Amino acid sequence: MKFTIIKRTSTLPKTDCLIVPVFAKGKIAGQLPAGSVKKEIAQIIKQKDFTGQFGQLQLLSTTKPRVLLLGLGDVKELHRYKISGLSDMLCAALKKLPVKQASFLMQGLPSKAVSMFELVQATCCALNNSIYQYTVYKKSTVKNRLTHINFMIDAKEMTQAKKALGHAVAINNAVNLTRDLVNAPPSLATPTYISQQAQKVAKSHAKLTCQVLDEKAMRKLKMRAVLAVNQGSAEQARLIVLNYKGGKTGDKPVALVGKGVAYDSGGYSLKPASSMESMKCDMAGGASVIGTIAAIAEMKLPINVVGIVPAVMNMVSDKAFVADDIITGMSGTTIEVCNTDAEGRLILSDALTYAKKFQPKTIIDIATLTGAQVVALGMVNTGLYSRNEKLVTKLLTAAKQSGDKTWHMPLDDEYQKLIESKIADVKNVGGRFAGSITAACFLERFVDKKQAWAHLDVAGTAFAMGSSVGATGRPIPLLVQYLQNMA
Ligand code: BES
Ligand code: ZN
Ligand code: ZN
Repeated sequence: MKFTIIKRTSTLPKTDCLIVPVFAKGKIAGQLPAGSVKKEIAQIIKQKDFTGQFGQLQLLSTTKPRVLLLGLGDVKELHRYKISGLSDMLCAALKKLPVKQASFLMQGLPSKAVSMFELVQATCCALNNSIYQYTVYKKSTVKNRLTHINFMIDAKEMTQAKKALGHAVAINNAVNLTRDLVNAPPSLATPTYISQQAQKVAKSHAKLTCQVLDEKAMRKLKMRAVLAVNQGSAEQARLIVLNYKGGKTGDKPVALVGKGVAYDSGGYSLKPASSMESMKCDMAGGASVIGTIAAIAEMKLPINVVGIVPAVMNMVSDKAFVADDIITGMSGTTIEVCNTDAEGRLILSDALTYAKKFQPKTIIDIATLTGAQVVALGMVNTGLYSRNEKLVTKLLTAAKQSGDKTWHMPLDDEYQKLIESKIADVKNVGGRFAGSITAACFLERFVDKKQAWAHLDVAGTAFAMGSSVGATGRPIPLLVQYLQNMA
């Protein structure tokens, strides 16, 4: 989808469809040039056929160009959170029409609740997300006719709007890349394939390099937790290291560590069939790291960021690791395996240990780590775990700004007791209660006490299960916003 910004003028633009947003009580925020279109709209509003209530849509098909009225509701309540819902409704309506190019009258919409920058960025990202389809394997997919959207803006807001659009397009490209990667079937999106995609991203940006460690290199580094999880797979494990050097040479990087389980069958602690379905999503954390770095490279942010993605497949075979195994990973900590389905934390323990090599100022890991996270927060909020208040504030601020909802979860010492093992330093499951918290507690053991670290459990938010939406690209908007604020 192509997005452009055009100056609103006293003539109607050349377009297949003019989208006119209307606030509650029929208040049109933008200015329309005098003429028949303006008159028609005024008439409909006067008759109260269209009131501007949130989500209301009405097509005027006989005007030239055709007009689609979009109800925004109360001006005070139009926060950026609401834009994605509106965008889904708008796209559903536009898809039914023979419209290739639409023009959105955005002028006049900013208010105390939402700025022009936020409006442009949020609308552009939301429309991109609504229009996205994973079409690689579905032969009967109806191609989107809509390929181009214009935002009509006043001259004085042009600079701000163009900047917002630039950011939005970088995020959209990254989100689409990540969604495609996560939606790809696991027989295609193997650890090797994921590493090749990361290398492809690195090739297209000057300040980006990608190093891929194979099993031999990982064995040398004693990354036995990564290797153990992949042991039952016919595919080779990989460690992907994407290095973006947009900042000064000496600047300490932010490390983004993403869970890259290309498929999670559960291993010998096999998942029931209903839970196994959609477990191709288990590399969404890793894919979001690749996407985030692609976006900030495109935005040319003046910071250093290193992305680390351990990529494996958690499968069953006579070679697979089993419950009762004890693993000594890269850190030297001994781990009692009580459940082979708690594999994400195992590979992340090695990746977090590996991250130390970069002396990062901050580490953020991203993982579809626990079903318990989905139970706790559903598909609305990502779970954030960190004891570093400053980092929590920064991430929650970025979540608000980007509309990528995130909730701070507890991480008290008391929970650590639940993963104490009788025969090793730690065990990989903590029992029935507080499952997402004990998983975070496990990860915390592999990060230095003084290290600024946060863990994002995106099990509920990175992938919409059982729906055509599939991968969502979250938490790319959150991470890009956080890094943007830092730069
Ligand atoms: N990949 C799953 C978590 C998951 C569940 C992601 C649902 C996305 C949607 C993870 O590896 C897992 O299986 N976790 C177990 C942990 C348990 C064995 C302690 C779980 O949540 O059941
Ligand atoms: Zn699992
Ligand atoms: Zn998993």
